[in-house]
Amino acid sequence: MKRTFLTALLALSLLFGSACGAGMNPQGDSSNEDLTVIGMCQVGAESDWRVANSESMKAVFTEERGYRLLFEDARQKQENQITAIRKFIQQQVDYIVLMPISESGWDSVLQEAKEAEIPVILVDRMADVGDESLYAAHIGSDFLKEGRLAAAWMEDAFREAEGPVRIIHIQGTLGSTAQLGRTAALEEAVEAHENWELLTQLDGDFTQAKTYEVMTEYLSSLPGSGDIDVVYCENDNIAFGALQALEERGYACGREGVSVITFDATRGALAECLNGRIALAVECNPLLGPLVETVIQDMEAGRTPDKHSYVEEQTFTAENLTKALIESREY
Ligand code: AHR
Repeated sequence: MKRTFLTALLALSLLFGSACGAGMNPQGDSSNEDLTVIGMCQVGAESDWRVANSESMKAVFTEERGYRLLFEDARQKQENQITAIRKFIQQQVDYIVLMPISESGWDSVLQEAKEAEIPVILVDRMADVGDESLYAAHIGSDFLKEGRLAAAWMEDAFREAEGPVRIIHIQGTLGSTAQLGRTAALEEAVEAHENWELLTQLDGDFTQAKTYEVMTEYLSSLPGSGDIDVVYCENDNIAFGALQALEERGYACGREGVSVITFDATRGALAECLNGRIALAVECNPLLGPLVETVIQDMEAGRTPDKHSYVEEQTFTAENLTKALIESREY
C-alpha cells in the first residue's frame, strides 16, 4: 500500500504537471517507501484548542517516527474537508484521520473511502453516519459529560439563589459534536431548574471575534445593564470574546459579578480562572496525537481498535489552580 502511494503521486504529478504534489518527495527517494502515509483533515485554526490539537498530531506523525503526514486545514468549511478526503483517496494514503467540523453530511465521502479500502479514524468530533463501518475508530471527548460537569457546578454555585438565575448561552459551531453535547447538557439542566432562565442563545462559532461581535450586539439591546448571572461559553475563545464585551459595557466578571463558564481549559483560560475573571473551566483535552497513533499501531498489527475512546477530563476553579500547574500545562 505504501509503494502504491508513491505510484499514485507520480501519476497525479504527471497529470497536473507538478513534481511536488502534497507529500511528494521531490527526489523520489525510495527510502521513504516504508513510511505510513496519513491523510489528515483538520477543521481549521479557529481556537487555541485547535492549534494545540494540530501540534499534537504533527509532533507524533513525523518522518523520524515512520510517518508521512499530509495535513489539510479546511478553514472551517465542510466542503474543503470533503475535497481533501477525495484527494487522499486518489493519493491512496494508508489512513485518513478526520476531525469532522459537523456531524452530518459524511455518508457519501466515507463510503468512497471504504470502497478504496482506506480506514478512516475520526478524531475529536463525531460523524453521524448511517453505517458504523464507515469509520474504524473514534477518539475524542465526551462533550455531553463536559456540559454536565458545568451544570453540576452551576447547581452548586446557585443552590441558595432566591431569585432567577439568568443565563446567556454562547454556542460553538452549530451542528458540531462539541456544540451539540455542551448545549444538550445546559438545556436539560435549565429544564430541570425552575428558576434557571435562558436569556438568549448566541452563535459564537468557537471564535473570539465572532463572540465579541454577537455579545456586544446583544448587550447593547438590553435595557440599561440587565441582570446576568452566568455566561455559558462553549469554548475558551468564546469566553475571551464574552469577557471583553461584558467588561466594555461595565459588567464585573467574577465572584461578585457574572460567572463565566468555559470549556477547553487552555493555559490562557486557566490564568483567567486563577485571577477570578472566569469562574469555571471544564477541561477538553486536545493532546490526541498519541492516542491516534495507538489506534494506527493496533490496526497495523492486525488488531481491531475500540470503536470509541474518550479522554479523561476534569474541572478547574480558582480553588484547585496554582501558577505552577498552569505553567506546566502543555497547552
Ligand atoms: O471540538 C472541540 C472544540 O472545538 C473545542 O472546545 C474548541 O475550542 C474547538 O474549536
